[in-house]
Amino acid sequence: MKILVTGGLGYLGSHVVVDLLKNSFSVVIIDNLINSDISSLDCITNISNKNLVFEKLDLTKEKQVEEFFNRNSDIEGVIHFAALKSVRESIKYPLKYYHNNVTGMILLLEYMPKGIPFVFSSSCTVYGAVENNPIDENTPYGNPQSPYAHTKQICEIIMNSKFKSEVNFKGISLRYFNPIGAHPSGLIGENPKNKPENLVPYLTQVVSGRREELTVFGNDYLTIDGTCIRDYIHVMDLADSHIAAINHLNNLKSKKYLDDFNIGTGKGISVIQLIKMFEESTGKKVQYKIGKRRPGDLEVAYANTKKTEKILGWKSKYTLDEALQSAWNWELNHQ
Ligand code: UFG
Repeated sequence: MKILVTGGLGYLGSHVVVDLLKNSFSVVIIDNLINSDISSLDCITNISNKNLVFEKLDLTKEKQVEEFFNRNSDIEGVIHFAALKSVRESIKYPLKYYHNNVTGMILLLEYMPKGIPFVFSSSCTVYGAVENNPIDENTPYGNPQSPYAHTKQICEIIMNSKFKSEVNFKGISLRYFNPIGAHPSGLIGENPKNKPENLVPYLTQVVSGRREELTVFGNDYLTIDGTCIRDYIHVMDLADSHIAAINHLNNLKSKKYLDDFNIGTGKGISVIQLIKMFEESTGKKVQYKIGKRRPGDLEVAYANTKKTEKILGWKSKYTLDEALQSAWNWELNHQ
């Protein structure tokens, strides 16, 4: 089965591509290389020992998208990652985010072959500021905390409208919690072009000496140690959930389907617990200080994974310890 992976050279996309190739799918990647590096292509080929097709393409350019699908009408499934993902940048440049993330989604849905499995890379950010944890998929959309969050909600809503209006549309939205870690080969991983915003890449860069000190954003939350609780999921587990989603869509009897699933471990871990776990797993000391709260951060967010386990038959397998070791291995290799 030939799968198109948009944003397939990015952090999450590259891990999913490796997993698809391992599971005997054939893969076409499109990526505009804005937040990814062409060198990932060789790394993917080295890890998988398989060939794949890559095309540099901007999903916001209608002509390019139309021509691409004219040339690739044999695509049998789409996994859509290509999007801008910095919460902070989205607050500064909202139009850039709406334009890129929403236009890309619209053009993709408009020109891709009809009725083929479509998997959208969404986020738990669609739930907004939630009171009750674990968060399940019935939780309604909350007030979007950023333009980035809003684009994820809008893209899901667009999928929903498309689903309602068509006789054959098969889609799944995967709502990721906090993906971390890297492929065990150490060849692909998270490689932000700018200063990392997320906890784990920042932490590994501090430990390797690329950055001075980690700031823990607030220790006055009402949690076990005052720091925020999140659900950190190994990117290898996250990659597997996409295979489960594609297989689920393929096995459906009905031509019409739309559902959303949480992708997390179901376990909430505090920032301090994560730092301690990193120190234990790697034997390295993390230099950190306690700083102010980061505006917009939720106190607690972790997934209820029951629906995903029941319907997709997917469950996370890796431990936090393994995820953190792989992140450290990537930092060492990558440097
Ligand atoms: N944190 C620090 N110091 C840092 C970076 C993060 O203490 O330098 C803390 C944050 O305050 C938070 C936790 O580490 O408590 C996790 O922060 P991340 O930035 O790694 O992740 P978020 O939970 O803020 O963001 C993730 C995704 C977003 C998504 C969001 C939805 O990265 O794409 O979840 O809640 F929008």
